[in-house]
Amino acid sequence: MRLADDYVVVVENLRKVYRNNGITTVALDGVSMKIRRGEMVAIVGPSGSGKSTLLNMLGALDRPTEGKVIIDGVDISRLDDNKRAQVRNMKIGFVFQSYNLINRLTALKNVELPLSLRDVPEQQRRNLALSMLAEVGLESKASKKPTQLSGGEQQRVAIARALVTEPSIILADEPTGNLDSKSGAVVVKILKELSRKGNTVIVVTHNMEVAREADRIIYIRDGKIEKEEVLAVAR
Ligand SMILES: Nc1ncnc2c1ncn2[C@@H]1O[C@H](COP(=O)(O)OP(=O)(O)OP(=O)(O)O)[C@@H](O)[C@H]1O
Ligand SMILES: [Mg+2]
Repeated sequence: MRLADDYVVVVENLRKVYRNNGITTVALDGVSMKIRRGEMVAIVGPSGSGKSTLLNMLGALDRPTEGKVIIDGVDISRLDDNKRAQVRNMKIGFVFQSYNLINRLTALKNVELPLSLRDVPEQQRRNLALSMLAEVGLESKASKKPTQLSGGEQQRVAIARALVTEPSIILADEPTGNLDSKSGAVVVKILKELSRKGNTVIVVTHNMEVAREADRIIYIRDGKIEKEEVLAVAR
């Protein structure tokens, strides 16, 4: 049974201030939100409004200046680097705005990587990675290296890598940004299916068609939540 207050992500009064060479940028200015298990949430907002910064905080990649990020009841902003890396490896799948693929590894090996971190046996690793590549339409490119792939193909490899472990929380930064509408629709379909299975999906997008597939849209502006729009009642 899913309880109404089964929040997998709780963000409280999050602030992130970047300081570089005496220049201060307030990227997040008091963001609070609660996200239910299995919910698919879209985050939209202008360039520079703080969307990627927010995802980095949710994904334990960076520490907030103030405020809390609570994942499955644990305040990850208070954990040391090792513990945060553990949360990240076990619970979170990232699709980055820049794909962060490893250029010396094939597409297949890139997708296998998060499975290796979880000690999945080799044969099983290979099978899971291949079937995930097939899902994003790239089975035939499994032995290619990232530099031999188009931008959209690299993006799909990055998506396969993020989803192959079926992480309980999926964070995607513009996952359809470089895809044609058909490949983009495949990616959105995969994300929706995962959310239906109970995985939580948080997707940053400029594409309102993608955003409208979510259960809820959160609008960010100048590091703050401007408004929210509920599209589907939590299942
Ligand atoms: N490492 C950093 N150091 C200093 N400032 C940063 C850093 N990362 C982001 N910023 C600044 O913080 C603000 C929010 O950036 P962020 O990347 O979160 O925006 P975004 O909403 O993801 O934009 P886009 O839609 O263009 O990807 C911007 O003003 C940006 O210049
Ligand atoms: Mg961004």
